[in-house]
Amino acid sequence: MPLDPRLRAALRIPAAEIADESAYRAFRGERRRLLGALASAPAFALAGCDTAAPPPPAARAKLDPALVARGFATDEEPTRYEDATTYNNFYEFGTGKADPANAAKTLRTRPWSVAVSGECAKPGTLDLDALLKGLTVEERIYRMRCVEGWSMVIPWLGVPLGEVLKRFEPTSKAKYVAFTSLADPEQMPGVRYDSIDWPYREGLRIDEAMHPLTLLATGLYGKTLPQQNGAPLRLVVPWKYGFKGIKSIVEIRFVEALPATAWNQLQPQEYGFFSNVNPDVDHPRWSQASERRIAGSASKLFAERIPTRLFNGYADQVADLYTGMDLRQWF
Ligand code: MTE
Repeated sequence: MPLDPRLRAALRIPAAEIADESAYRAFRGERRRLLGALASAPAFALAGCDTAAPPPPAARAKLDPALVARGFATDEEPTRYEDATTYNNFYEFGTGKADPANAAKTLRTRPWSVAVSGECAKPGTLDLDALLKGLTVEERIYRMRCVEGWSMVIPWLGVPLGEVLKRFEPTSKAKYVAFTSLADPEQMPGVRYDSIDWPYREGLRIDEAMHPLTLLATGLYGKTLPQQNGAPLRLVVPWKYGFKGIKSIVEIRFVEALPATAWNQLQPQEYGFFSNVNPDVDHPRWSQASERRIAGSASKLFAERIPTRLFNGYADQVADLYTGMDLRQWF
């Protein structure tokens, strides 16, 4: 995720390297000032964007099972395994695309459990190995679209998130689902840097979380998920920009109010809560109308540019979720 150059300088300083507390406070203050300036700069203002107000209630989606099933299949050329596992965003291991593949080997993925709490009748712990025994792991080939303008086609292995969430019996107060990643500076060197307000957080509206396309991924290309791709458990929401796919999840909470998310907190004018792929809603600093498809032997830099489709091509399956919502306002 590229940061504005004005922010980059302020954010790159690792907090842990500022020894003196007053210097650290000054650094935090400067960072906040820069974020504030960025937010109020005219180039970044988006008309009608009010992230503080809750979004309108969910439309009642009428899902045709045949359409949903079709969403799992694509005949598009897949991305090479080498590319999908070496060109990653995982800021806990650095901000460069190659950093996660180089640095994430230190992440211990067993034992692993996820705490599930909040507005549900049966809060508890999700044990990864028990989960994998109790549910069928499916393979689904999804188009993935990154907000930075590139896209991939990846065969994921995973279980439908909704199947997992149902076990905890969410109540009628569970309007959203909030996810949190591990943030362990011992295993994750990037957490020492103030690039994100750790831990990495994401959220979905409950109907998005329960939608059959939403996957809790445990693998890719028929193999166990490599650390750099979010092992042992990450979210895959194929109609949304890639940053919604939170990695290495340790906590899931059912909540009533719109949850905070990492990128929205950092740059609310650039990253909305919904983050649905939409060629008609540009990022304030670049167009979202086309994408560089990294597939087959295409090089990462000169991959073919193709038009981006609404909801990343999954409109038949998900457009109903947003009936009556202005997608420019709720970007
Ligand atoms: N999850 C965590 N915990 N930390 C991150 O930095 N980056 C996000 C998302 N999930 C990120 C994360 C972004 S910006 C993208 S594009 C996708 O992961 C990238 O997933 P991939 O590396 O498997 O392609």
